[in-house]
Amino acid sequence: MLMGSKLKGPEQYPHRVAKIWDNYVDWGSRRSAENGFFTKLLVSHGISRGARILDMAAGTGFHSIGLAREGFKVTACDGSPHMLNVLRDNARKNNVDVASLQAYWNSLDSVLPPGNFDACICLGNSFTHVSFEERETVLAQIAMLLSPGGIYVFDHRNFERIIETGEINGGSIYRKDAKISVIRATSELVEVSYTVKGVTFPLSYHPVFFEKVPEMLQKAGFGPLEFYGDFKKGERDASFFQWVAEKMT
Ligand SMILES: C[S@@+](CC[C@H](N)C(=O)[O-])C[C@H]1O[C@@H](n2cnc3c(N)ncnc32)[C@H](O)[C@@H]1O
Repeated sequence: MLMGSKLKGPEQYPHRVAKIWDNYVDWGSRRSAENGFFTKLLVSHGISRGARILDMAAGTGFHSIGLAREGFKVTACDGSPHMLNVLRDNARKNNVDVASLQAYWNSLDSVLPPGNFDACICLGNSFTHVSFEERETVLAQIAMLLSPGGIYVFDHRNFERIIETGEINGGSIYRKDAKISVIRATSELVEVSYTVKGVTFPLSYHPVFFEKVPEMLQKAGFGPLEFYGDFKKGERDASFFQWVAEKMT
């Protein structure tokens, strides 16, 4: 029987996972699926090229590198040194400058100054690695790092659907040859097993439920909010939701 991960957050991304991550998430397909969505979103919120972006779940750098290439000033942060090593290689290969640093989300204030960013992004269903108990602390850290009027952009899978169906929809940005199966899905924890290029690894998520997001963000001092489903404004029938929340001054 497959067992879920006892590891937490960035510990779930050791060297063996980091080195095959880009075989799981296909950059070309992801670029076509997103079609510049996040750049347009930032610009539509007055955050133009040259603005300071914190990619707090930078992983192997897909968004950090893409945004840096478009002229944003990106700081790529991640708790996994292994993901960051791959990111640095990817930045070199793409001939792009991205400042990178290892940090945990519950103590970002120990490495980054307050009010330093115009936007903070947390993409690829990453925020769902935060336990329910830690969410308030992490959101307070994000709010602290944003300048007045700065925005927080994050996404999450449709966990209501995953729990109801017991299935996870890989979507078109993930490699077709990756094997993904849900080990268990409850309202507290969703554990998924991935097999990519012969490497099997589990990832666990603390579900973020669509209906609970507005209250969670408002309590942390964010508003007004805007949401998208699979990159379409106001779409509820989606596999992934994208949220934008402004830091209230
Ligand atoms: C699902 S991956 C997504 C990476 C990238 N954003 C993408 O979409 O390809 C989640 C990333 O968040 C990082 N992470 C998870 N929990 C973290 C925490 N508490 N502090 C810092 N990084 C964390 C992991 O190390 C991992 O690189």
